[in-house]
Amino acid sequence: MFEKLQPAPADAILGLIAEHNNDPRADKVDLGVGVFRTAEGETPVLDVVKIAEQHLIDTQSSKAYIGTAGDASFNAAMQELTFANACDADRLVTIQAPGGSGSLRVAASLILRARPEATVWVSEPTWANHMPLLGGAGLTLKPYPYYDTARHVINVDQMLDALGQVATGDLVLLHACCHNPSGLDPSEEEWRAISDVIVERELVPFVDMAYQGFADSLDADAFVVRHLAERVPEMIVTNSCSKNFGLYRDRVGSLSILAADTTSRNTINTQVNNVVRTIYSVPPDHGAVVVSLILNDPELRAAWRLELAAMRGRLREMRVLLTDALKERAPDHDFSHLVRATGMFCFLGITADQVARLKKDYGVYMVDSSRINIAGITAHNVNYLADSIAAVL
Ligand code: LMR
Repeated sequence: MFEKLQPAPADAILGLIAEHNNDPRADKVDLGVGVFRTAEGETPVLDVVKIAEQHLIDTQSSKAYIGTAGDASFNAAMQELTFANACDADRLVTIQAPGGSGSLRVAASLILRARPEATVWVSEPTWANHMPLLGGAGLTLKPYPYYDTARHVINVDQMLDALGQVATGDLVLLHACCHNPSGLDPSEEEWRAISDVIVERELVPFVDMAYQGFADSLDADAFVVRHLAERVPEMIVTNSCSKNFGLYRDRVGSLSILAADTTSRNTINTQVNNVVRTIYSVPPDHGAVVVSLILNDPELRAAWRLELAAMRGRLREMRVLLTDALKERAPDHDFSHLVRATGMFCFLGITADQVARLKKDYGVYMVDSSRINIAGITAHNVNYLADSIAAVL
């Protein structure tokens, strides 16, 4: 049965984890997969998560199945975190999902049931797994211009032009904040212009919010979601708690659908839960209950916000540190876009050959596109890293 199968290619991002782990060099640097790291290079469990987990262990009395939609208190808290009061809750469905990826996968099936002929327009470039995940589920995807690789800015005019040509009823996948891979997001004014086109063309926004709280603040990072929710009849939002709660391997996320009215909302609710049953039946519980405990307890929520702010602050500091170190070593190269970007990522702006040399000669790991995870930089490795980059320029 399996004799015709060829080996699958290594994943562009996750493949780097094993490569880096297997590298014996002591001074190797991991700027690959998007996980937060401390100044010591660790990805620790958040303090607030430890507290909530302890409470869960002490009080949980059953591990019986939970329904397809997951934990109701988690869903309500995620809905509030995402939309605040931007729209009428009677028009919203929110379900728990296994991480941002699981949420995207459920959304893909729902879109295929509702409008199989629709195209989903994705930014060029976008997260390396958007196309395989959504395309693999059966959706038709096409790119819209986003990042100008020569100038390291967003091509908002070209994006607006392209979206202005899109057929009514198609979907537009937007990154709510901390665009992955470029780290560059539209300003609020630009988001308003993008929303104008979406409203005029009657497109359906499909917003992926995997980094809420990593750019400016929980509220500022949700600007486009809330702005669109005030203006459009229908939209889809996927959330991940991997980064902002550090719950990567626990697979915690949510999917929200804004419906045109309450009747439609009730139908979508049955459909989306039916989709879940046909894919993974019920979502994993542990991480979502932890998030629910944190979001629904004022003290834990405040403590979480502080830990999140500290992660955000460290990312900003590391951007400045690397940019300054590169300025000293390569004054003829402009790396100023590193500090214009926010969140975990940005492009270094070097070629795939240079990326390969960094890996081979210096043990510096990043995605082939030269996307770097800023959290992999520390005060300890920044000089070695900048020396290595300068050496391959
Ligand atoms: C990333 O972009 O590195 C993260 O979102 C991890 C992943 O699953 O790709």
